[in-house]
Amino acid sequence: MSSRFDLVIRNARVATAADTMVCDLGIRAGRIAALGQDLSAGHREIDAAGRLVLPGGIDAHCHLDQPMSDGSVMADDFASGTLSAACGGTTTVIPFACQMKGQSLRAAVTDYHARAEGKALIDYAFHLIVSDPTASVLGQELPALIGEGYTSFKIYMTYDDLKLNDRQILETLDVARREGAMAMIHAENTDAIAWLTERLELAGRIAPKYHAVARPLLVEREATHRAISFAELVDVPILIVHVSGREAVEQIRWAQSRGLRIHAETCPQYLFLSAEDLDRPGHDGAMCICSPPPRDKANQEVIWAGLRNGTFDIVSSDHAPFRLNGPTGKKVAGEGASFSKIPNGIPGLETRMALLLSEGVLKGRITLQQFVALTATNAAKLYGLYPRKGSIAIGADADIVLWDTGTARTIGNAMLHHNVDYTPYEGIEVSAWPDTVISRGDIVVERGRPVGQAGRGQFLACARPQYRG
Ligand code: URP
Ligand code: ZN
Ligand code: ZN
Repeated sequence: MSSRFDLVIRNARVATAADTMVCDLGIRAGRIAALGQDLSAGHREIDAAGRLVLPGGIDAHCHLDQPMSDGSVMADDFASGTLSAACGGTTTVIPFACQMKGQSLRAAVTDYHARAEGKALIDYAFHLIVSDPTASVLGQELPALIGEGYTSFKIYMTYDDLKLNDRQILETLDVARREGAMAMIHAENTDAIAWLTERLELAGRIAPKYHAVARPLLVEREATHRAISFAELVDVPILIVHVSGREAVEQIRWAQSRGLRIHAETCPQYLFLSAEDLDRPGHDGAMCICSPPPRDKANQEVIWAGLRNGTFDIVSSDHAPFRLNGPTGKKVAGEGASFSKIPNGIPGLETRMALLLSEGVLKGRITLQQFVALTATNAAKLYGLYPRKGSIAIGADADIVLWDTGTARTIGNAMLHHNVDYTPYEGIEVSAWPDTVISRGDIVVERGRPVGQAGRGQFLACARPQYRG
């Protein structure tokens, strides 16, 4: 006879990317051991009646303790970042081991493991960032690292310290094709941004709101089209990250309709913020500076439509945590510095799931199945973590969130657990919030309060991606 369950969750209204069911969940040794009716007793029991039971989120694009080249310092390390993620219903994060130019990729990975060691509350994998694709990086290091479980990497078409030129992009995509890795692309035209920025600054237009003027939709459209063309030329699937608006969406739809394997990610900032937020009083617009920039209401609707019609595979936070105040955050170049000197990125690890469940599912814009696919299952498949992560199924890790969907809450920075001194979503009302969060069978958030031990999170080596058909 099998041993007693460690934990039984009873009366659970469970949803996966495919199904909805009411059942009990039996958890043993960190995994889901049984789904059924009237399961036998567990050492511990939770009655989930009235709550929605979903797979823990996978935040497949976030930046934690990533070294920066402009003197800024990320406010969240693996301790505060994973605490914040867990409190928001995320049970796996995939931040970036970033190669600095001149650095070996291996050294970047070793350094990043040291930064994570002993700190994470939940499980984590690494994407790589390839910024210096030398012959030895492409010939030896990258293939070796892919084989060791770092099966996805990001490449940048902009940012002076990270960008690759077209030839380098092609050569790096060719490694992704040969090795079966997932290439994630930050698609913005770097020279167009530089030209526009210089003109704006010469005219004295340096306030945060000009960040959006320097990065119009066509800058993203052109680079998205170029990335798609390169993927077609090399014959490799790619994933376009943080897609912000109509013009890039049109390129992606065009490519998908031609049968190209183009995957896409968007983020809450493109659903809930707009370029007007860059014009908040004083210098507060700096809070919402990220790239690509938030657009307008019409573009938000295009992104919602893309979530509904399957253009997008993933919704990630792109959490890039810089404090508004203090010398190493948004003001690293001084009070009132030009928009081009303000670190890019906004915090969002803890609010991603609640915003999308509340405004997406509970307001009828997307289905519950789409929500699960977009926030967990698709990321697990595309980044080689499925079926261990990303679903509620027998044998999967018991990464489970019990959601309270009956209480209205107003998002405020004081309720969040990150180490950033603001949230761009301050004042937005949500009617979903995680009540209990379970990671590999351990309760890490109970009645909304963190109870887990930092350092219990494990590194996950990733398999090759499973592509959508
Ligand atoms: O503005 C952003 N998105 N900052 C984070 C870095 C990146 O490009 O994802
Ligand atoms: Zn990016
Ligand atoms: Zn990012």
